Amino acid sequence: MTLIIDTRTEPDRALALACETLGQGLPVAIPTETVYGLAADATNPDAISRIYEMKGRPRFNPLICHVSDFAMAEAYVSFDPLSRQLAEAFWPGPLTLILPIKPDSTVHPLASAGLDTLGIRMPDGFSRAVIQRYGKPLAAPSANTSGKISPTSAAHVEADLGGKLALILDAGPAEIGLESTILKVEDGEIRLLRPGGLDVADIEALTGKTVLRPETAGAVIEAPGMLASHYAPGATVRLNAEDVKAGEALIRFGGAKLPGEGNAIVVLDLSPTGDLREAAANLFAYMKEADASGAATIAFGPIPNEGLGEAIIDRIERAAAPRD
Ligand code: TXA
Ligand code: MG
Repeated sequence: MTLIIDTRTEPDRALALACETLGQGLPVAIPTETVYGLAADATNPDAISRIYEMKGRPRFNPLICHVSDFAMAEAYVSFDPLSRQLAEAFWPGPLTLILPIKPDSTVHPLASAGLDTLGIRMPDGFSRAVIQRYGKPLAAPSANTSGKISPTSAAHVEADLGGKLALILDAGPAEIGLESTILKVEDGEIRLLRPGGLDVADIEALTGKTVLRPETAGAVIEAPGMLASHYAPGATVRLNAEDVKAGEALIRFGGAKLPGEGNAIVVLDLSPTGDLREAAANLFAYMKEADASGAATIAFGPIPNEGLGEAIIDRIERAAAPRD
């Protein structure tokens, strides 16, 4: 049985039960501002194992550790000056930093898949209160079966992992709707490992540095989890559609109508007013809705490749990638 508690009406009960469940070494689905996470005690190898099992996730794919404050982060990783500047500016928020693990870190190596670096983030929202109360970092990937679309609501989590999970905390729809932006600072340069909910332009404005994309970053070691096919809906996905074919579901942007829309089973607009933040928040829910319409193909209209558009297009490209 999966218990779902609404954090808006029962915050105290949600906190108490979440900490009790985490203390038993069981994963709990927690609302972060980006997407819902499947959280477990990052110092407990049994608890971390349960995350990998529940998601069907390959164990070479490391998890992000979530902390509630800087003191907690500093117990596990070392900050270079540039990473510290980024964390101070954007935490709590949709930014994950890849940092060297301290020798006396008690985060279990299963969380970092044996790497000497840890992905670390201070999330916003109710999840931060859970970590603060629990007092230890939580390892948390997105709360979905590996390779599927990330959940932006408690209902998404329940539909995918309900039955396997003891507890889901429901804080309503995720505010940002895309996973965190992942950065790694190396030799004073900022490398983008995954575009996400923090706009690269904001990072460049803060630091005065150009963020290196994988194409320009030289020797590329991408985030191990960035397998080409990801966020896979059941339907196939077509990008930059110029028209709509019979029986397709259409997801468009900015009120831009496409020829043949009458052929569509369903038409969804990520943001009729052309707001990329709104589009990011709606993306995963609309992909699920289009998939549930029974359409064999989801066609996406053009989306501007600027600001959060970069991360939105990244997720759609992954959804469209060939499947194994
Ligand atoms: O917004 C988010 O980041 C959400 C919420 C729950 O915080 N989490 C999330 O986790 O998206 P997940 O597991 O779906 O994606 C984590 C990504 C993976 O691609 C993984 O390979 C990468 O982070 N990663 C984790 N640790 C890493 C490390 N030490 N070096 C390189 N990449 C790492
Ligand atoms: Mg994920």
